[in-house]
This record gives sequence, C-alpha cells and structure tokens, in this order.
Amino acid sequence: MPGRVLVVVPTYDEALTLPGTLARLRAAVPDADVLVVDDASPDGTGDLADAAAAADPGVHVLHRAGKEGLGAAYVAGFGWGLAAGYDVLVEMDADGSHRPEQLPSLLAALGPAGEAVGERGGADLVIGSRWVPGGRVENWPRHRELLSRAGNAYVRLALGLRLGDATAGFRAYRAAALRAVDLASVESHGYCFQVDMAWRVARGGGRVVEVPITFVERTAGRSKMSRAIVTEALWKVTAWGVRRRADAVVAALRPRARRGVR
Ligand code: GDD
Ligand code: MN
Repeated sequence: MPGRVLVVVPTYDEALTLPGTLARLRAAVPDADVLVVDDASPDGTGDLADAAAAADPGVHVLHRAGKEGLGAAYVAGFGWGLAAGYDVLVEMDADGSHRPEQLPSLLAALGPAGEAVGERGGADLVIGSRWVPGGRVENWPRHRELLSRAGNAYVRLALGLRLGDATAGFRAYRAAALRAVDLASVESHGYCFQVDMAWRVARGGGRVVEVPITFVERTAGRSKMSRAIVTEALWKVTAWGVRRRADAVVAALRPRARRGVR
C-alpha cells in the first residue's frame, strides 16, 4: 500500500446504500480508513454513519450543516484527511457504483509511498475510468452514458486534457498532490469538481493515470444529478478553456527574451 489511506465518501440521502458500501469497503481494503462526509441528509444517513463509526475505529464521520454539493464535501473531507496525516486520499461514491473490490487496483497504480510528485512508475492521481479499454458501465441509462461521453469529449477539446474519463468520481490522490493544489480556491460544487481537480493536478505537473473500472448503476436511492449540475459544468469548463487559450495568446505575444527562450 502507498502509505496510510483514507477513503472519503460523500453522502446525501444514502441510508439505503451506505451501510452495504461501508461493509464491502472494510472487507475489501481493511487497512484503509473511511471518512463519511454527510450534508445533514434528511433520511438519517448521518446517524447510520455515526453508528458505523461507533462500532469500527476505522470509520469516521464529518457532519456538515446542509447540502452544498459534492465538491464542497470533498474539499472538507480532504482538509480533514490532510490534517490527520494520511498519505493517500480516495474519492468514492456511497451508492455502490464504485466497487470497493476495485480500489486495490487504483492504489497499485499510485505506486509506493513517498512524497515524490511525478515519481517514475507511479502517479499523483489515479482515476478509475469507464472510458478506457477494459472500463465499462453496467445498467447505466443510455442518456447518462451519452452525457458522460459528450462531456468528456468537450473537456478534452476545451482543456486539452488527455483523459478518457475526467468526470469520474472513483480516484486516489497522493496527499502531496492535494497539498500542491489550493483547495480553498476550488469553487466547483457539482460534478465539474472532478474535472477541476484533474486539471489542477495536471497543470501543476502531476502525473495523472487512468485504470479501467466497471461502474455499476445504483440499485437503491437516487442520483443527485440535476440540470444545475450540468449547467455549472458546461459554463465552468467553457470559462476555463477560454482562459487557457487567452493565456496561450498572451504568452505567444510576449517578447521572446522575457519568455526565457534559449
Ligand atoms: N455530502 C454530499 N453533498 N454528498 C453528495 C452531494 C452533496 O451535495 N451530492 C451528491 N453526493 C454524494 C452521493 O450521496 C453519492 O455518494 C456521490 O456523491 C455521487 O452522487 P450520485 O448522485 O450518485 O452521482 P451520479 O451517480 O449521478 O454521478 C456519478 O457520475 C458522475 C459523472 O460521471 C458520480 O460517480 C460522480 O462522481 C461523477 O462525477
Ligand atoms: Mn451514483
């Protein structure tokens, strides 16, 4: 294992799915600790998380006052995990779509413990990808698959990120890579948080690697996907893409000497 691992699991109304996911996770990767980040779920998910934490010292819970989106929940969870000194921080959905049994393959791709960002053979960020050879989805509605594929094509075009699945939510970060990102400045609330983070790590010189996963559609509870989440992603990715191109133009217009060209 690449050091001490914390799996951050954001929850909003996951009472039907969280207990089973926690049990599978603890069985599949017993050495990894878990932090559930619950946004005061009306269905009592927070109480179930507390009960799990009381019964198992490897499970922790962060309660937040209200629903602020997946991105804000992860930023809070990462802050908690970095302060507690974990070496690796994992993102995983509570609803069973990310199979805990596949976490070891993500951790293996991260490589051995150590601070070295961009280390040879390892990675700074490993993304469990649906859209690389070997990756797939099970029972996902056709419209979600189309949206995901189109969204990822747009991300590649706008940001030049060479990733099959930049919106994927099953990932492992080296703590050093997260510390290099200014988490306080992350404003993405919805799923564009995933793109935002991959882009920040890549721009900072971090090595981002994809490993194939099987994404299984949830069998209980409901997705929190909304039109607002899609709209936020579209606007933000477009704005980042425009800024990226504007920066490239400014750099090209700058006198050669000041650009440091040898
Ligand atoms: N704390 C908190 N606050 N958790 C949230 C919130 C929130 O506002 N919104 C969603 N979550 C939690 C859910 O409870 C679940 O554990 C996880 O975040 C993913 O939410 P889903 O609603 O199940 O996402 P999805 O299945 O529609 O989307 C999946 O695909 C997206 C796009 O490819 C996820 O894997 C996303 O991470 C991914 O970006
Ligand atoms: Mn889901």
